[in-house]
Amino acid sequence: MARRLEGKVAIITGSARGMGRAEAELFAKEGAKVVVADVLEDQAKEVADKINKDGHEAIAVKLDVTKADEWKKVVDQATEKWGKVDVLVNNAGIATMNGIEDATEEEWDRVINTNAKSQFLGIKYVLPAMKKATKGSIINISSIAGIIAFPNMPVYSASKGATRLLTKTVAVELAKYNIRVNSIHPGIIRTAMAKDILDDEQSAKQVLSAVPLGRPAEPEEVAYGALFLASDESSYMTGSELVIDGGYIAL
Ligand SMILES: NC(=O)c1ccc[n+]([C@@H]2O[C@H](COP(=O)([O-])OP(=O)(O)OC[C@H]3O[C@@H](n4cnc5c(N)ncnc54)[C@H](O)[C@@H]3O)[C@@H](O)[C@H]2O)c1
Repeated sequence: MARRLEGKVAIITGSARGMGRAEAELFAKEGAKVVVADVLEDQAKEVADKINKDGHEAIAVKLDVTKADEWKKVVDQATEKWGKVDVLVNNAGIATMNGIEDATEEEWDRVINTNAKSQFLGIKYVLPAMKKATKGSIINISSIAGIIAFPNMPVYSASKGATRLLTKTVAVELAKYNIRVNSIHPGIIRTAMAKDILDDEQSAKQVLSAVPLGRPAEPEEVAYGALFLASDESSYMTGSELVIDGGYIAL
């Protein structure tokens, strides 16, 4: 059977671990050449090494997603190595939990820059390569916190709401270039980010009581959504939001 991303080149941010790593491994298995981009250089290299050892193709690059000059270098490295960029997954992100009374200005700048400005920069810097190729798929990882209110997460929620509408607006603007832009809205996913909540019996019970499927997702369950959006199977989807949350926001 043909692989679903055969011959495509994908840059995935924050892919040294968590959901980004699951996406990198799945995309590579499905035939993509993957740029594993992260601030965690050693872990990114481990991911790329494993992918290559498994007989697929990947390179690890250092990227701080908040820095425009580093974005430029990453896109240059991808095009120098493989000649093009077909897919960008803007996945890197951080979370903080402080209500509005405790949240700080420093926290606002850090979270908004890492989660939202990063996606703006990624789209801008990958655009010339995708325009040249006359096609592309950009996937912005948001959250269900970008759709509904999460108490004590005003800063994180603002960042994820920003990427949701960045996605829709840019999707409309870039449709003329045949570049599709969609967002993914994960619920509770078993990664380092959700570890504190899931490791604490009390808070895990509380948060999972809001999930109709009654459990957190594994990172791979989000990666399959990203795979669909990255592939030509979703060729008529742009400006859409794919919710992967075990039914959380349906309740
Ligand atoms: N885990 C969840 O429950 C959950 C739910 C909804 C949305 N999300 C979103 O999913 C995405 C992936 O998160 P995860 O759960 O895999 O978390 P994670 O903490 O395991 O992974 C995040 C990755 O992003 C990288 N990163 C952070 N700041 C960076 C920067 N400035 N430049 C480059 N890389 C950077 C980290 O090094 C890490 O590898 C995030 O955008 C997160 O907000 C997570």
